[in-house]
This record gives sequence, structure tokens and C-alpha cells, in this order.
Amino acid sequence: MKKSLIAGNWKMYKTPSQSVEFVKLLLENLKEYEDREILICPPFTSLFPVSQIIKNTSVLLGAQNVYFEEEGAFTGEISPVMLKDIGVEFVICGHSERRNIFGETDEMINKKIKKVAEIGIKPILCIGEKLEEREAGKTFEVINYQLENDLENFEKFENLIIAYEPVWAIGTGKTATPQQAEEVHVYIREFLSKKYNKEVAENLRILYGGSVKPENIDALMKEKNIDGVLVGGASLKVEAFKRIIDYIT
Ligand code: 13P
Repeated sequence: MKKSLIAGNWKMYKTPSQSVEFVKLLLENLKEYEDREILICPPFTSLFPVSQIIKNTSVLLGAQNVYFEEEGAFTGEISPVMLKDIGVEFVICGHSERRNIFGETDEMINKKIKKVAEIGIKPILCIGEKLEEREAGKTFEVINYQLENDLENFEKFENLIIAYEPVWAIGTGKTATPQQAEEVHVYIREFLSKKYNKEVAENLRILYGGSVKPENIDALMKEKNIDGVLVGGASLKVEAFKRIIDYIT
């Protein structure tokens, strides 16, 4: 059975001590789930202390970014080998904030997902259109371009996760409707099926991200092709994140 993935992207929020406090609270009364995985992606400085607390629990650890070399003179960067050593199992690659604020290109993102998968960490590849692109009817064109370029010569599909995050829905309170999200998820699966094969398309988890909250999680998770969510703001509060984890379909 394909488990769903409920992931929290904390972005640049929470000091190490705040992160530890959050995780301790989250772990209190956290149920054991057979059908879903729970992932948190704190800032780099919180990864190690959080890794010590979630050891031997069902909560998984992810980073928000990575460089595509294993080591070297790359001041300020963090390598996938370093992440793996402290128990990081997932890395968000190509988040729209990395693309739009820090100028990450599809070529860089492609290098990142390949290197991360080679090291044995699961990349979460983020793709999605901007508002003006959606309004100009270019949503599928943008998705197609990002998939073609970000996945060039990528092979380890059993390790890959794709997150569809429409840029206009991130941090805006404006969620894509479950139907809008489902339509793009279906498009992504069809792309994978045509370009690779049916097995790759069916086994790969496609997450939705963009203003996911307790009020809309149930409706989103009812859609057939939504295999989980990548949550920003609502993953910073224990109560809200717990309600999202406990989604009902
Ligand atoms: P929000 O949930 O705050 O809209 O952020 C979504 C996101 O960017 C997750 O990666």
C-alpha cells in the first residue's frame, strides 16, 4: 500500500530550542498510523537536536535545501552526505521560494535531486505555476517544462516525491480547490506514465502544497491523486499540524 505523506516545511521559523519544544509536544499522544507517514523539515540549525528527539519514533526528518556536491570549497553550503549522517531522510528541492528569491534554476534543481537520490535521501521536488501563468492558461505548459528539465536523466523514481505547489497559493491563504489540485496531479501522473512507465506513475507520491490547513485538509485528501501534503504556516502550530495529520477521508 502506498502510504500518504504529511510533511511540514517550517521555512525560516523556530530556533533549535523552539524546535525541540515543538517536537516534544507533537510526540505527546501521537497515534501510530499504518496508512500515513509524518515528516518535519526544520531549518538546518534545528536538524541535529530534532534528530535526537525523534529517534525511534514514527516522525521522519527532512531538510529544506541541499547542495549538489558531497564536499568541497562551497562556503555556506550543506551536502547530502552531512544530512544523511544525522538521520535526514528527505530533502525539499526546488521550492518556489528557492527558485524565485534565490534564483535556483531547473538545471541546479536537476543536479540536486540526482545527487540526493544517489546518496540515499528522498528528494521532494517542488513544481508549480505563478498566478500570471495560471491566468494566461499556461499551468500545464509550466508543469511540463519543470518536469522535463528537473527530471532530466533522473532514474531513482522509487525515491522521488513530487510536490505540486501553485505559487499563488503559498502563504496567501488562497488554497487551490481540491479539483484544481487534482487536475494538475492527474496531469503529472500522465506525464510520468507517458515519459517513463505506468508503474513509475502509479507508485510515485504526489503531494499538494499551498495554504493547507485544518479546514481544507479532509477535502484535499479525498482526491484520488493527492497522496499527501506539504504544509507551511499550519505546520508551525502543534494543534493545527496534528489535525492535519489526523485527516479524515
Ligand atoms: P503555506 O502552507 O504557508 O501556504 O506554505 C506552503 C509551502 O510553501 C510548503 O512548502
